[in-house]
Amino acid sequence: MNMNEIQTPAYVVDEALIKKNVALLKTIMDETGCKILLAQKAFSMFSLYPLIGQYLSGTTASGLYEAKLGQEEMGKENHIFSPAYKESEFEEIVSLCDHIIFNSFSQMERFGPAVLRANKKIGLRINPEHSTQVGHEIYDPCAKGCRFGIREEAFEKDKLHNVSGLHFHTLCEQDSLDLWTTIQAVERRFGDVLYDMEWINFGGGHHITKDGYDLALLKKCITYVQQKYNVIVYLEPGEAIAYEAGYLVTTVLDRVNNDGDILIVDTSASCHMPDVLEMPYRPPLKNSGEKNEKLHMYQIAGPTCLAGDVIGHYSFDEEIQVGTRLVFEDMAIYSMVKNNTFNGMALPDIVILKEDGTCHVQKRFQYEDFKNRLS
Ligand SMILES: Cc1ncc(COP(=O)(O)O)c(C=O)c1O
Repeated sequence: MNMNEIQTPAYVVDEALIKKNVALLKTIMDETGCKILLAQKAFSMFSLYPLIGQYLSGTTASGLYEAKLGQEEMGKENHIFSPAYKESEFEEIVSLCDHIIFNSFSQMERFGPAVLRANKKIGLRINPEHSTQVGHEIYDPCAKGCRFGIREEAFEKDKLHNVSGLHFHTLCEQDSLDLWTTIQAVERRFGDVLYDMEWINFGGGHHITKDGYDLALLKKCITYVQQKYNVIVYLEPGEAIAYEAGYLVTTVLDRVNNDGDILIVDTSASCHMPDVLEMPYRPPLKNSGEKNEKLHMYQIAGPTCLAGDVIGHYSFDEEIQVGTRLVFEDMAIYSMVKNNTFNGMALPDIVILKEDGTCHVQKRFQYEDFKNRLS
């Protein structure tokens, strides 16, 4: 089956592009000695974990289920950070994970002894209080009042005897210059403590696989920290692993007009690409132009009841007919991990585009998948 024959809507992930991304990440590991983990929150397509695991050091999780998935499907290093752990899940988390990162001293005091008994590593998430992004407070862990990471003011340096590493995550789709200024903030606030650590985790948000990303500076940052403090640097990008490596293919179901032409498609921003509304952003669409750039202009919208289920405004050289397929780009990340069945919408198929150009349907969802989440 090729791309034109698949049933829509479908997330199509391009194996060759995933390989290209992880191969680039591996060169950073090879050249610096750092370790890079897949942050599963961005991309949990586990049928590709065996491939990704050939290049990366392992996985990181946000909670028990991702930790389980990482261990079952990749089976390499497995880390976890959660702002707060639950007593009922912690024993299993400890059995699955190598590094367990706490967001507070109180969580460490409560759960740390179980980590030590299991001979696993304890880490603490710090808050460098250094915002490097503007206009995206929802994605800024250094924003005022944010619950993530221990600030310098609350950092109890006399309680670190069982801590083997520090973790920070402050970036979102950013270049290495922002990492560098963050490292300087980390050094100012926590540098003295770093000498006693075995590792430091630079979190995610590094747009490493985007064209133009300053790789040389990233490598300098890693080498500088590793040499100065004698630690192993971990990175845990999610987005960079599957950046621009997937599509969401949809079919035009109808055309209506209200102050302009509107295409109703068989995929929903609200259900299948929630970041379009949450972030918000306008996803790239193959063979289209900006609003008013080309002759034929359309609003593209989903089939749910939400008036705001609008994917964006796009223009085309040709008129778009009912039945036309449209291909939204960069849809592997933060898409299938966040989708939902609001309005009883079917979930898109999950498809792999193989290197020989054939498409394999990995998963097709049914009515039962909708019903089984309800009662
Ligand atoms: C703690 C942590 N690590 C890693 C990531 C992955 O970030 P990204 O997908 O932007 O690389 C996130 C994203 O929110 C995160 O919160």
